[in-house]
Amino acid sequence: MIITTCSTKGGVGKTTLTANLAGLLADSGYPTLVIDADIQPTLSSYYPLESRAPHGLYQLATAGSTEDTISRTSIENLDIVISDDPDGKLDNWILHTPDGRIRMRRALTDCHSYDFVLIDTQGASGPLQDLGVLAADILLSPIPPEILSAREFTRGTLNMLQRLEPMQYMGAPVGHLYGLCYRMDRTVDARNVSDTLRRASFGDSRGVITILNTVVPATVAYREAATARVPVHKWEKRGTGKTTPTARETMLELVDELLPHADVRNVAERSATARPEAGDG
Ligand SMILES: Nc1ncnc2c1ncn2[C@@H]1O[C@H](COP(=O)(O)OP(=O)(O)OP(=O)(O)O)[C@@H](O)[C@H]1O
Ligand SMILES: [Mg+2]
Repeated sequence: MIITTCSTKGGVGKTTLTANLAGLLADSGYPTLVIDADIQPTLSSYYPLESRAPHGLYQLATAGSTEDTISRTSIENLDIVISDDPDGKLDNWILHTPDGRIRMRRALTDCHSYDFVLIDTQGASGPLQDLGVLAADILLSPIPPEILSAREFTRGTLNMLQRLEPMQYMGAPVGHLYGLCYRMDRTVDARNVSDTLRRASFGDSRGVITILNTVVPATVAYREAATARVPVHKWEKRGTGKTTPTARETMLELVDELLPHADVRNVAERSATARPEAGDG
């Protein structure tokens, strides 16, 4: 199963979501690969690397093979293809290569070593984003419940889906898109925006978009876990007794809804937090 996190707006939470979802799946025992398909290599350094492959995204996308591109993270079952294209040469290559946008899809179709492949993309339309989107079985789009993000989702993301629709005739149908209300705060405005998104018909794209019931709250745990370089379900396992669900509960709920066949409820207690928790004796 290949899941691409995408959005035509920057800074919405794609990398954080990709890293934490992959971290939970890997921690649950599923061999998982993340691919950093953003020229700003944020995901590449999210978790510590245990061994670094000679190549990364550029080779994967151009050669159409995963050979020599897979690095190992320090998290068991979690491998990564790092972003190694700081000058953005890949964009140009994709533009000038007839099958450029779908070569990575082919490479991943032949890669059977992983149960899940998660691709993080850049927060702007362009050939590199198309590459990630066209490789996916399903798309996941975090939407902060602010009116500008919601508008960009309904306009930019839907345009992207429509623009790429003809790629189905080249054997690369665009996957179903799941919108996730992300970084939700408790304001009435946030609630209104997320309610509006759920009621939206999305024009011609109705049926290819689902807004998930799971909501990811805005909490400091996501930033703290990123700083500590651990998946957030390990960082914030137990709450502070307040009404906001813990990051662990949220991530489990997300997997249950998005990937109902994945069994992550048995995430071993050994994956307990990497820090002392409130209430721990
Ligand atoms: N649930 C959350 N609650 C609060 N802050 C969050 C949450 N998730 C992510 N953040 C913060 O939001 C900021 C943007 O997140 P992130 O880098 O994942 O977005 P992005 O969509 O990948 O950005 P870009 O488009 O630049 O690649 C980061 O500072 C991150 O720590
Ligand atoms: Mg990012």
